[in-house]
Formats: sequence, structure tokens, C-alpha cells
Amino acid sequence: MNLTTSSGILMKTKIKIGILVSGSGSNLQSIIDNIEKGKLTASISVVVSNIEDAFALERARKHNIPSIAINHRDFSTREDFEAELAAVLKSFHVDLVVLAGFMRVLSPYFIKSFPRRIINIHPALLPSFPGVHAQRQALDYGVKFTGCSVHFVDEGVDTGPIIIQAAVPVHDDDSESSLSERILLEEHRILPEAIELYVSGSLIFTDGRLRINRSGKSDVPATHNPPLQIF
Ligand code: GRF
Repeated sequence: MNLTTSSGILMKTKIKIGILVSGSGSNLQSIIDNIEKGKLTASISVVVSNIEDAFALERARKHNIPSIAINHRDFSTREDFEAELAAVLKSFHVDLVVLAGFMRVLSPYFIKSFPRRIINIHPALLPSFPGVHAQRQALDYGVKFTGCSVHFVDEGVDTGPIIIQAAVPVHDDDSESSLSERILLEEHRILPEAIELYVSGSLIFTDGRLRINRSGKSDVPATHNPPLQIF
């Protein structure tokens, strides 16, 4: 994001990201790596996990990023849990909330606290296969392509305006884990790219649709296709 000072000097400010996780944190790692390589102009203010021993928290600590566990089981209602989550993110002055493998559905209460400022990575080509076990759903259905999507979070489950998608082929001999691994590689690419689009102010809502402003400085594509396998 750019700020013009009263003297007309263009200053770059870094968007502060709060990342919510529940598991291994490989998507978190890819955001950290892209920031460290200078490919992503943002800073991670805090990483919050609802699972106390999530490996993602260790990854954050290793990079000196504040990391906090807020166990949803310690709260009697979803609202109380989310109120604590929102308070922590606000105390770190977070501009953008990134759900990077965060396995809780957020209620409208939380979403309204960060309007159009929450994005999620989902391991399927939405609107196909929302919810849990997206890779298994793709295998069970027998699709030849699946993939991953980064989208703004609205009040539905894995609905909300799509920012970037990457397609991934499904092989006949795929297991849930081999397919998940192939999808994860693309997740690691598109999540930082979607954040970069947000940070560079390239995401524009017009006529109820989300578009990427191509006159901006970002040349991040909105789609990634795999090379087709020729037999
Ligand atoms: C990813 O596949 C993400 O899309 C899904 O959970 C997985 C988390 O992986 N919601 P990681 O914790 O980022 O390694």
C-alpha cells in the first residue's frame, strides 16, 4: 500500500497480517519465505492457532513472529472464542486476516469485525467441494482436475469472492495424500500471490464482482494451469 505524505513523497507502508492456523503451517511458511525473499511487501504481526501444539506455532517462533494459542475448547460459546480472537488481532493492529489452514468456521460476528479483510485458502476449485475433506470429495466424485482457491471470506462456508485459483490434475492412482501434496504445492504459490494482490491495492470490487486491476503494479496472474500430460 502506498501513502503520499503532505510533502508529496511516496512512502511504502507495510500491511500487517494476522495469520490463523490449526496445523502444520506449510502455507504460513510459504508466506514467511516470500516476505523474507522480498516478493511480498507485508509483515506478519501475529500467528494465532486454536490448536495448542500446532507445528505452525513453532514455525512462527523460529522466525521471531509473535505466536499465540487460543484453544476454542476453553470457551463456552463460539462468540466468546471469536471475541478473544478478534481482540488479539486488533491488539496487533492487523490490517488483513489470513486463514492458512485454520479449521474453524467463523461466524458472521467475527467476519463483520474485519469486513472484506479476511482471506482463506481452500484445497479445491471452488465452488466445487467446499467444507472439509475437499481432496477426498474430488477423488470420490472422479473429477480429472481439482486445485485450490484463495477467496475473501463471507458468511458462507468457503463462499466469497475468488481472488486466484490454480488447477491441479487428478491421477487415476491418486490417494487422498498424494493429491493433497500436489495441491499443497500450488497453495504455497497462490496464497502469497493473493496477499500481494491485496497489498498492492489491485483487488477492485465493481458491479458486485471482484476484478484485478491490471493497470496497477502487480503482474500476478489470477489463474495457474498445470501443463497437460500427453500420452
Ligand atoms: C491446506 O491444504 C489448506 O488448504 C487446508 O488445510 C491445509 C493446511 O495445510 N485448509 P498447512 O497447515 O498450511 O500445512
